[in-house]
Amino acid sequence: MSTEIDPVTQTDTAGWFERRSGLAGTVALITGGAGGLGAAIALDLAANGVRPAVIDLDPTAVDDLRGTLAELGHDSIVQHGDARDPDALAALFAAVDDRWGRLDTLVNVVGGTFRAPFLDTTPKGWDALLRTNLHHVLYACSAAAPRMQTGGRGGSIINITTIEAHRAAPGFAVYSAAKAAVEQFARTLAVELAPDGIRVNNIAPDYVPTPNLARLSNGEDPMSDPVGGAVAIPMGRVGRVEDVSGCAVFLASALSSYVTGTTLHPDGGTFASSGWFNWPGEGWANHVPLEHLGR
Ligand SMILES: NC(=O)c1ccc[n+]([C@@H]2O[C@H](COP(=O)([O-])OP(=O)(O)OC[C@H]3O[C@@H](n4cnc5c(N)ncnc54)[C@H](O)[C@@H]3O)[C@@H](O)[C@H]2O)c1
Repeated sequence: MSTEIDPVTQTDTAGWFERRSGLAGTVALITGGAGGLGAAIALDLAANGVRPAVIDLDPTAVDDLRGTLAELGHDSIVQHGDARDPDALAALFAAVDDRWGRLDTLVNVVGGTFRAPFLDTTPKGWDALLRTNLHHVLYACSAAAPRMQTGGRGGSIINITTIEAHRAAPGFAVYSAAKAAVEQFARTLAVELAPDGIRVNNIAPDYVPTPNLARLSNGEDPMSDPVGGAVAIPMGRVGRVEDVSGCAVFLASALSSYVTGTTLHPDGGTFASSGWFNWPGEGWANHVPLEHLGR
């Protein structure tokens, strides 16, 4: 916990959040941390005094994040690499050991999918989806947890999953299954690591426009349309990256020190609504109003 003493009054000038979060001086490793949701998480953690270590596949995003963190005066490691490659992951963990000798938080951000009915997909595609969404989470957790145990200060592991891990996702069957596997893995790992004070939780966003999502939408993006978002999402707007990064800051911090084995849903209420839509002119209905069918 960081304290700053006012030289005149000799009182602690750190704010409530700074004192209670215990984030300052900790170290977080973030996979996929240079773009999209990952960059928002890395920057928000750094803004709270966390030293970020990032691996990302996008060399431009890596250069940009490295530059931004340096400009802001943050101590960081930002490596170009593929988090699906166990050797690349191991190299980042080793760099963290060498530089800081501690690890407090792991955020598994890497994930992604393509849209296709299940019967149009192949074993090659299934393997790719499992590698992108599940396997590296296992590798990263198996590297992070022993370091946290050795550190003796507990730790926080955070997986970015999706609302599609909690409902059917036509066109995304294997992605949905892989993310659901991450959710269930996290619950068991949370229990196994609870005696060490290491917490494991998931964040399951709904729709947050990022470059990744733009690729999936094939140029048509009804969810980004104010009416599309307002109908499908109870809060009436799509997600913002900070809706997700705020959850990651909370889960990394001591404010969530008794929270483990669970999932936060920064989704504007979509998961809770489970098919109830706020139709313009009609109000809430769990079916398409006749008036809208002809459009
Ligand atoms: N954006 C959304 O609406 C949304 C919704 C639900 C869940 N998610 C999940 O959130 C996570 C991030 O999504 P995003 O929209 O920010 O995606 P994104 O494509 O913007 O990816 C974030 C970063 O990860 C990097 N990355 C991708 N594959 C990598 C790899 N193999 N190794 C290292 N870095 C890699 C990218 O270069 C990018 O900088 C994913 O797991 C995704 O499934 C996103």
